[in-house]
Amino acid sequence: MIRSCWPLVLVSAAAMACATEQTKPLATTRQSTARTLGVVSPEFDSDSNVNAIQALERDARRRAARFRELTEPGFLFGTTRVAQTEIDAGLWSARELYELGGQLFTQRFRRENGYGGADMPAFGRFQRGERGGPDGEECSDCHRRGGLAGSGDASDNAYPYGDGETSDAGLERNPIALTGLGLLELLAREMTAELRSQRAGLFEKAQETGASATGKLVSKGVDFGVFTARSDGTVDATAVAGVTPDLVVRPFGWKGHTASIREMVESELATHHGMQSAWFVAHGTKAALGDGALPDPDGDGVVEEISEGQVTALTAFLALQEVPSIEPPIALKELGAINTNLFPRWLEGAARFRALGCATCHVPELRLSSAVFSLARRSGGEPLVLDLAKEGAAPRIVAAEDGTFVVRAFTDLKRHEMGPKLADAFSERGVGVSTFLTPPLWGIARSRPYLHDGRAPTVEAAILSHGGEAAVARDAYHALADRERGTVRVFLTSLNRAPRFAVP
Ligand code: HEC
Ligand code: HEC
Repeated sequence: MIRSCWPLVLVSAAAMACATEQTKPLATTRQSTARTLGVVSPEFDSDSNVNAIQALERDARRRAARFRELTEPGFLFGTTRVAQTEIDAGLWSARELYELGGQLFTQRFRRENGYGGADMPAFGRFQRGERGGPDGEECSDCHRRGGLAGSGDASDNAYPYGDGETSDAGLERNPIALTGLGLLELLAREMTAELRSQRAGLFEKAQETGASATGKLVSKGVDFGVFTARSDGTVDATAVAGVTPDLVVRPFGWKGHTASIREMVESELATHHGMQSAWFVAHGTKAALGDGALPDPDGDGVVEEISEGQVTALTAFLALQEVPSIEPPIALKELGAINTNLFPRWLEGAARFRALGCATCHVPELRLSSAVFSLARRSGGEPLVLDLAKEGAAPRIVAAEDGTFVVRAFTDLKRHEMGPKLADAFSERGVGVSTFLTPPLWGIARSRPYLHDGRAPTVEAAILSHGGEAAVARDAYHALADRERGTVRVFLTSLNRAPRFAVP
């Protein structure tokens, strides 16, 4: 029986309707050389002709900027060198920060900017320890498949924690698509707060009664096991499931090891590009930084390789990323011979996805209370505030009638034990070798290959590789006739991104 059909098509349509908002004009009192060159845009036009013309214009700007860089080396990096004080002073609108962050994301880091380090090779396919590569010249070397800030091919895989020489010594990791990241961080923040308040309630109860208090930890319908608070202030977290005992939900990395986009940005800059921010230098370990004298631990003669403002711009760019949408197959006359109506199959696939138990981990909908993304200022003071429902790149999240937001990411933001076939050679940051965060499935039509090491070329191969906690769902899928499995494949392939026109 078909129980539900998520009306997701509406998300992109509604988002398009409000995609033409104007932002405030460029401020004129900026101190830095940073400026938006208009090489990326948060807008999306549903008219594909307009889309194509805008893409060609952006490409022309990109080429002009590259020519200028050839005659004026350092010009491009200079255009992104924004000072945090200007952002703090409100001189950069959300849209401008998106454009600037996108510029930085798609631009080559060079030796003279601090790329690499004196103790690192010019380029290394395999990373060394916590120090990293460098294994990419720009973020979009790896995050590019399926569109801006997308995923990576198997040939873009990174090999963290290795010996710098061989693929086998490190872990193997496929680049993750970065769509909808702001919403994922907000969901995780709300879940952390909820779990922690449940923990506080148990502590209070233990204090009042003088006996141990045990209770379930549940947030947004996701079950995180059981927590016990003892009256002496100690805890028993052995039955906590899918989250570290500190109850911080970490939505980033295949292992679910990092809580915030900003932390992720800083570590990606350092490990893939050898670009060290002042904050990273102040807080990192020698193993991650290199053992040169401060403030230039990587000894390449460049200090503050990335400014706090640049980290903020990249973080804003990723927090404001467009939201993937569901695009069911509809029969179009223009498609002639391939004009087969697969919509009934899609409906069946959506229902099967639930019936098979996929939706227990890949939760189709999580409800978010607020889409306001605040980024604390490290120097204190008012945070940077980005309203993802208004300022996010199109297609953006749309409020439900009650003012909350339904996030259709297809994840529970929880870690699961996935069985020996998916195990890594060694454990990463204390997470078990075969334990992984449920990856969001939104946008997967454009993010192949699949799984943490990119081993699965198709969604079917990914499903059949599931084990451990997902073994029952995998077996149920396996037991279906191919026609029935096909409906699930059709459904999964409808999890898509807006079809932006891009010049390769
Ligand atoms: C050499 C390839 C490569 C380059 C270059 C690269 N990344 Fe990544 N990125 C990855 C891989 C692989 C992962 C998954 C890491 C993990 O599981 O720990 C990832 C994960 C991420 C994530 C977490 C996404 C999520 O949903 O979990 C963010 C954010 C990110 N990268 C941002 C960046 C930024 C910003 C840059 C440029 C400064 C960058 N990356 C450069 C390969 C790359
Ligand atoms: C117990 C939780 C759980 C269940 C149940 C589950 N999955 Fe997964 N799924 C995961 C985890 C964790 C991964 C990542 C594993 C890895 O990368 O090694 C994953 C990965 C995937 C991927 C690849 C995503 C990507 O971006 O690489 C697809 C597709 C997928 N699952 C579909 C399904 C389908 C369809 C079902 C039902 C038949 C299902 N899953 C059931 C937890 C689950």
